Amino acid sequence: MKIGIIGAGNIGGNLTRRLTALGHDVSVANSRGPQTLTALAEETGATAVDARDAARDAEVVVVTVPLKRVPDLPSGLFDGAADGFVVIDTGNYYPRERDGRIPEIEDGGLTESRWTERHVGHPVVKAFNGTYAQDILERPRPAGDPERMALPVAGDDERAKGVVRALIDELGFDTVDAGGIDDSWHQQPGTPVYGLRAGAEAVAKALAEASPERPAAFRG
Ligand SMILES: NC(=O)c1ccc[n+]([C@@H]2O[C@H](COP(=O)([O-])OP(=O)(O)OC[C@H]3O[C@@H](n4cnc5c(N)ncnc54)[C@H](OP(=O)(O)O)[C@@H]3O)[C@@H](O)[C@H]2O)c1
Repeated sequence: MKIGIIGAGNIGGNLTRRLTALGHDVSVANSRGPQTLTALAEETGATAVDARDAARDAEVVVVTVPLKRVPDLPSGLFDGAADGFVVIDTGNYYPRERDGRIPEIEDGGLTESRWTERHVGHPVVKAFNGTYAQDILERPRPAGDPERMALPVAGDDERAKGVVRALIDELGFDTVDAGGIDDSWHQQPGTPVYGLRAGAEAVAKALAEASPERPAAFRG
């Protein structure tokens, strides 16, 4: 599959490593330009590009930048993407240590991914947001392995969600359907499933136990 990854940090870098290893054709971008990504490109065989070129011909585009940087993404971010392309959002809102206070999320009742979706102008599928970046490299397991972790996946478009769930299965993880983007508070920071390393049954239970109230530590 042709995959564009916008953000080459902890999550974007490790997704680049694993997806290229699986044989996917990955383009990866950061904010400083492809000349700063030569080491990652040499290591993985991915193509380092400008952010505005990352989605070209891509069937899947991963947006994995700090939430406060989402509004800085270039306009026309998805120009030239393949028909029916799917956007994965890995983002989390950390008002205190990173993102600053975002009133639409705190007062307006938007989930973090709904806010991101409005900025990028395309429906998103929320995945990997509660997954430690290192686990993407170190914890893949074959289907059926009792140690296999499950990741929650939320999205409004069932087909898009299916594409993402199949890709995550290929990466070595089970998935749990976490509903639509308005339900995705169930997997935001501070919820029981956030950072949980467990199988599908425990992940489904943790999603069900989430409270819609944002924990104090995650309020700005
Ligand atoms: N770290 C984790 O374990 C983890 C786990 C799950 C989810 N998340 C979430 O996933 C998101 C990314 O986290 P991370 O830890 O991977 O971040 P990170 O290590 O800080 O990396 C962020 C990347 O985004 C790039 N970037 C920033 N602004 C950009 C722009 N305008 N255009 C293109 N690229 C841009 C940065 O490029 P430059 O360096 O060139 O600026 C950098 O490559 C966050 O919302 C985070 O909360 C993180």
